[in-house]
Amino acid sequence: MKNIGIIGGTGVYTPNFMQNAKTLNVETPYGKTEVIEGEVKGRGVYFLTRHGKGHTVPPHKVNYRANIYALHLLGTKRIVATAAVGAINKNFAPGTFVILDQFLDFTKSRIETFFSEGKVVHTDCTDPYCPEISLILKEAMEHFGYPYHMGGTYVATEGPRFETRAEIKAYGILGGDVVGMTGIPEIALAKELGMCYASVAVVTNFAAGISGHMLSHGEVVEKMAELNEKVRNILTYTVAKIPDERHCNCAKAPTSGE
Ligand code: HPA
Repeated sequence: MKNIGIIGGTGVYTPNFMQNAKTLNVETPYGKTEVIEGEVKGRGVYFLTRHGKGHTVPPHKVNYRANIYALHLLGTKRIVATAAVGAINKNFAPGTFVILDQFLDFTKSRIETFFSEGKVVHTDCTDPYCPEISLILKEAMEHFGYPYHMGGTYVATEGPRFETRAEIKAYGILGGDVVGMTGIPEIALAKELGMCYASVAVVTNFAAGISGHMLSHGEVVEKMAELNEKVRNILTYTVAKIPDERHCNCAKAPTSGE
């Protein structure tokens, strides 16, 4: 099967867990994007690094539609993503992993749909993250003995600035556990195409006002570098265990009046 997509977030720039890697330049109706084709334990995989190789693309400028559409054109039905996040929930210490199960969307300037003209599509997002892949991520955590939380609400902010103390306090009251800048619209777009999308959030810092110091991108990158080996193990284990057949309802999420 060559239909598993991996989207690497901050700190996951090269597919160092893949063999026989080859770069593809994929043209989509939304622009070009670079995808790396290769194998993980004999499985065909397509890898995409969200911010570009040298972290040159800021969160609000990522071409989310081109990225997701490229994976779709290549036949990807299932996506595993990583996301560096700050912890709002004080129980989610830096260095732990969170298998996301809900999101709150506070982005402002992004195109969140493939269906603005012509066909009208409404997509179920009740439980947006693929439960089947999420369970495999959990299995990976247990297998390696990594600290993790099964389920967590991801708050997506516009960025590229970090949040204020008041924003983090408010997001916490609303039920947010972790905060990041890129999870939306990526998952929404994948769901519109009936793809499975699961995400392992990597807690790199306590969020603004909780951490007790000023936040910096350097702190996030440093923590991701420290956790690189673990992320690599989690992705390798998960990709190898994803079954050929889908046993979830992700394919049924998008609906139209047609
Ligand atoms: N806020 C937003 N995005 C982030 C953070 C944060 O604290 N840490 C890593 N990505």
